[in-house]
Amino acid sequence: MIRYRDVLRSIFSILLCVVSCLVSANGQRNAASAAAFEAMLPVLHHPRCMNCHSAGDFPRQGDDSHPHAMNVRRGPEGRGVTSQKCSTCHQDHNLAGLHMPPGAPDWQMPPRNTPMIWAGLTDNQLCELLKEPKQNGHRNIDQIVEHMTTPKLVLWGWNPGEGRTPVPMSQADFAAKVKEWAVGGAVCPAASSSASHAATQ
Ligand code: HEC
Ligand code: HEC
Repeated sequence: MIRYRDVLRSIFSILLCVVSCLVSANGQRNAASAAAFEAMLPVLHHPRCMNCHSAGDFPRQGDDSHPHAMNVRRGPEGRGVTSQKCSTCHQDHNLAGLHMPPGAPDWQMPPRNTPMIWAGLTDNQLCELLKEPKQNGHRNIDQIVEHMTTPKLVLWGWNPGEGRTPVPMSQADFAAKVKEWAVGGAVCPAASSSASHAATQ
């Protein structure tokens, strides 16, 4: 004879298994997305990116990220100040020769209101900043993916001109990690798991 209580117990344990399986699949998805973000960090932290995304109201130069020569400033729109616009020296392509201005279409820094300063942020804070519409140019996740994988200004990091070190990961690998991060829900690394990134202050 089947006892009512046993039936209930089995149903309960089946349910429990289904729920825990779902939770752990979701957990794995989250972990994979956050891990993909961490794999993007060597690019995001690289001087080729940080020289426009570091602290201060000016761009930086070189692998040591020293302040831009000639006291170049961000300006309200990120295009420099009246006397010294970025476009006076920077063209839409790299100029040939050592220490010549690098270039890409629309060469500028982020504007003063949304300066996208990454220096000093933990991995979690950087990830949250990239997703913040008020800071990232009102982009949703798909548009962030597009921004990191298509504009010439970002792709310049892979072709930075004579004498400059390109970012340390192939463009295809970086694009794959960005997409993996987004598909998994654009999950950020845990707030506690990352130390403040003090480089290029
Ligand atoms: C010459 C300066 C410059 C360099 C170098 C640069 N950026 Fe940017 N970056 C900008 C500007 C300007 C914006 C703001 C653009 C906007 O809002 O339309 C920006 C914004 C961003 C954003 C925020 C938008 C979003 O979708 O969240 C990301 C991400 C980004 N850049 C990635 C990179 C990466 C990756 C590199 C290096 C491979 C890089 N940038 C190098 C100027 C630069
Ligand atoms: C007077 C000319 C001039 C102006 C104006 C100027 N730059 Fe530059 N910039 C240069 C030169 C030249 C270099 C290359 C220096 C070198 O390689 O030693 C350079 C290098 C850079 C680099 C370094 C790239 C790297 O990773 O090493 C960045 C970033 C940059 N400029 C951003 C800007 C931005 C943004 C503006 C406007 C706000 C601007 N520059 C205005 C001449 C200029």
